[in-house]
Amino acid sequence: PPRTGDRGETGGRQEPEARTVPTMRSLRERRDALRDDIVTGNPAAVDRQHSLGKLTARERLGLLLDEDSFVEIDMYRRHRAHGLGLEERRPHTDGVVTGSGTIHGRRVFVYAQDFTIFGGSLGEAHALKIQKVMDLAVSTGNPFIGLIDSGGARIQEGVLSLNGYGGIFQRNVQASGVIPQISVVLGPCAGGAAYSTALADFTFMVRDTAQLYLTGPDVVEAVSGERVTHAELGGAQVHARRSGIATFVHDDEESCLEDVRYLVSMLPANNMEPPPRGPSRDASRDSRPRLAEIVPADPKQPYDIREVIAEIVDDGEFLELHEAWARNVVCALARVDGEVVGLVANQPMVLAGVLDVDASQKAARFVRFCDAFNIPLVTLVDVPGFLPGTGQEHAGVIRHGAKLLYAYCEATVPRIQVILRKAYGGAYIVMDSRSIGTDLSLAWPSNEIAVMGAEGAVNVVYRKELAAAGDPARRRAELIDTYRGELAHPYFSAERGLVDDVIDPADTRSAVARGLAMLRDKRGPVVRRKHGNVPL
Ligand code: HXC
Repeated sequence: PPRTGDRGETGGRQEPEARTVPTMRSLRERRDALRDDIVTGNPAAVDRQHSLGKLTARERLGLLLDEDSFVEIDMYRRHRAHGLGLEERRPHTDGVVTGSGTIHGRRVFVYAQDFTIFGGSLGEAHALKIQKVMDLAVSTGNPFIGLIDSGGARIQEGVLSLNGYGGIFQRNVQASGVIPQISVVLGPCAGGAAYSTALADFTFMVRDTAQLYLTGPDVVEAVSGERVTHAELGGAQVHARRSGIATFVHDDEESCLEDVRYLVSMLPANNMEPPPRGPSRDASRDSRPRLAEIVPADPKQPYDIREVIAEIVDDGEFLELHEAWARNVVCALARVDGEVVGLVANQPMVLAGVLDVDASQKAARFVRFCDAFNIPLVTLVDVPGFLPGTGQEHAGVIRHGAKLLYAYCEATVPRIQVILRKAYGGAYIVMDSRSIGTDLSLAWPSNEIAVMGAEGAVNVVYRKELAAAGDPARRRAELIDTYRGELAHPYFSAERGLVDDVIDPADTRSAVARGLAMLRDKRGPVVRRKHGNVPL
């Protein structure tokens, strides 16, 4: 191929066609060579990847993005590092495929790490490629998705690798609340890669192949003598159930990437846009008599709040976050009459639906995400209180509970509270009560809103009288009836404007749909302007 500055035999007057053909051949050859690097350059590594149930970077992008929509950026990039044999190995892409494509026709920016090159580890060039697409995602206002399969900082590039991670973290934070960020862990996610995951809004993991930790089992053993497997240390189950880092866990990459597409379909492109609306379902006239059957009248009887959610949302379909962590609260994205909402609901089936350290953190982060991205909040309340005990107090339930309180107090999106059965004490206040700014509070007629449940309240207030009573059990039952009749019913709250309406449970879906329509034009504080529109 002609070198730059080669002016040909005609002394610079070469015909355009003659110039173009060799140049095009060179381009094709380069691209083919490059594809070789990625897909067939190291067949053993690709085979190993497949034998582990993992796909290659390009196969993954093929599943994630709409067909033929991927536009690659920086495919020629290679590292310029020296030492430790690096100058002998300079594969194109530097182990990460970056660019942009569409999901259901809506633009996203992506990177997919290629474990077959340097174990997907991140050196300087690799990091700069990721940073470039992050910058484009922010400047164009589109979601950013990382497909992670990486041994972390590339050891041979030393501090430049660390510097590369720092630049990514800095961008993760600057982009937080501006564009949705999604991390999909499809293999190792060690060291620096782990922090980028934690900074994202959502983390997907694949059950048997994803591992997420700051330091791997070898380092753990060297430092503390503890022997632990990759899965025990940072497998998907650990992060789904215990650490709360994994938002979603899937059995295989195909279903995982399909769910990333589903999630993206419910998110706005950025913080200045509403989430995409689905078709209206005439929900404002929809009666759901089954709701009253799902929820037992006895406030102590458990039931599955997800059945209630399924009756309220369109097609009974919702995407639950952190399904296996802090199960006493349910957080989910769904549509009501076509409009995307974030649902926060106590789960009476787990720990009677109490709020505790983990539940507060889970719900608080979700409320803040919804608020940042213009997603209205629907809060379903059936809560006996905060979990008492030294375990919780010492673990900082006050500090963590305050996060949820803070998140609700700050939220400026439309907010609807539905009190199903009971709402006691501080947990009543925290679960989006009128006092902390809900826009619309609805209550079922069966509910009790009070400082505490009737039995506990009577024991405290009438302790002396009960001790002196001839038949304490009968007297207690009478006092409980009186307490319920006078204080612990929704009309007590409704008369005082703390509940806006007492509704038939069957009308919950329609009332929520009407509430969302009523609040659609709600505006938060005016965003600081770039400049006024001076009449020029
Ligand atoms: C350079 C790496 C690498 C790394 C893996 N490789 N990790 N190269 N830097 N960090 C290379 C291997 O040398 C190997 O190259 C290829 O990738 C495949 O790795 P294997 O070990 O053969 O694969 P496997 O057995 O599947 O194990 C994968 C692994 C393991 C669990 C990820 O490689 C591993 O433990 N790596 C180190 C993880 C780690 O501790 N990273 C440091 C992070 S510190 P060849 O040429 O043989 O194919 C960090 C600091 C930032 O990130 C902190 C910021 C907060």
